[in-house]
Amino acid sequence: MKSFNHKVAAITGAASGIGRALALALADQQCQLALSDVDENGLAETARLASAKGVKVTTAKVDVANRDQVHAWADQVKKDHGKVNLIFNNAGVAHGGTVEGSDYADYEWIIGINLWGVIHGTKAFLPYLKETGDGHVINISSIFGIFAQPTQSAYNTTKFAVRGFTESLRQELDIMQCGVSATCVHPGGIKTNIAHNARMSKSIHEVAGDDVSDDDLRDNFAKMFRTTPEKAAQVILEAVRHNDRRVLIGADARIADRMQRLLPASYQRLVTAAMQAQRRSARRHAKA
Ligand SMILES: NC(=O)c1ccc[n+]([C@@H]2O[C@H](COP(=O)([O-])OP(=O)(O)OC[C@H]3O[C@@H](n4cnc5c(N)ncnc54)[C@H](O)[C@@H]3O)[C@@H](O)[C@H]2O)c1
Repeated sequence: MKSFNHKVAAITGAASGIGRALALALADQQCQLALSDVDENGLAETARLASAKGVKVTTAKVDVANRDQVHAWADQVKKDHGKVNLIFNNAGVAHGGTVEGSDYADYEWIIGINLWGVIHGTKAFLPYLKETGDGHVINISSIFGIFAQPTQSAYNTTKFAVRGFTESLRQELDIMQCGVSATCVHPGGIKTNIAHNARMSKSIHEVAGDDVSDDDLRDNFAKMFRTTPEKAAQVILEAVRHNDRRVLIGADARIADRMQRLLPASYQRLVTAAMQAQRRSARRHAKA
């Protein structure tokens, strides 16, 4: 896809962060928008900001974990806009906790949103993208879809799966030559609300230490995020224009990707050592 001008883009999780930044960057390029989220206030604000740029914007409250809602939304977008060229499967949540200490409900919750959400969005919109002959599926994974971390098994599970799903999809689309392509996105830390909205199991303290509160953990995580959502949106749209299969966002993502390639198994020892050092330092600060 060489240009977004007069195209129609559907974006999930558009109320905040990367989803909102994508909406505004696409509106700048005169792309029509179909926006969805579970957060109706945030969604209305994104729609207000995008409409001010003079493009048609529709909104819908859609829980991406709910298959019927996603399919009904895709049908409605086609009715409202006449066509759909792009689906950004962006909505996502985070969870921290050990495998032993996290409940099945935690896994079901995050898999419903981060993985089923992507599968629902892809399957619901794909027939409409094919109709245009110029379509693109953009699935947001993470650097944690390439590189695993202790206490992130639930998030890692979903993001590794999104990568496998999207890479398989892309190969099918290439073989079928149906005018639709796909890109898998692997952001490093992006300054959004994701860390502050993350769910945490008490078990995270078995790895992170007892002397840090959940809020401190969220803050520490968020402090490591360097890239703005606006920059992330710019990199994603550039990758779509270049029809890239995979895109890494931020120096942190590029370093982690390289580390995983050079040390495909033993990178884990380095992560473990870094976490243990962090834990000792947190303990020293707590005592001081
Ligand atoms: N921020 C980062 O550091 C980072 C890094 C790698 C990947 N990502 C991924 O980027 C995507 C966007 O996240 P973000 O960082 O902008 O976070 P964010 O919290 O700012 O935005 C996520 C949006 O998803 C929405 N959402 C949550 N549950 C939903 C549901 N069930 N149905 C529909 N919408 C729902 C939220 O309301 C929110 O508006 C996610 O898939 C996330 O995993 C983020």
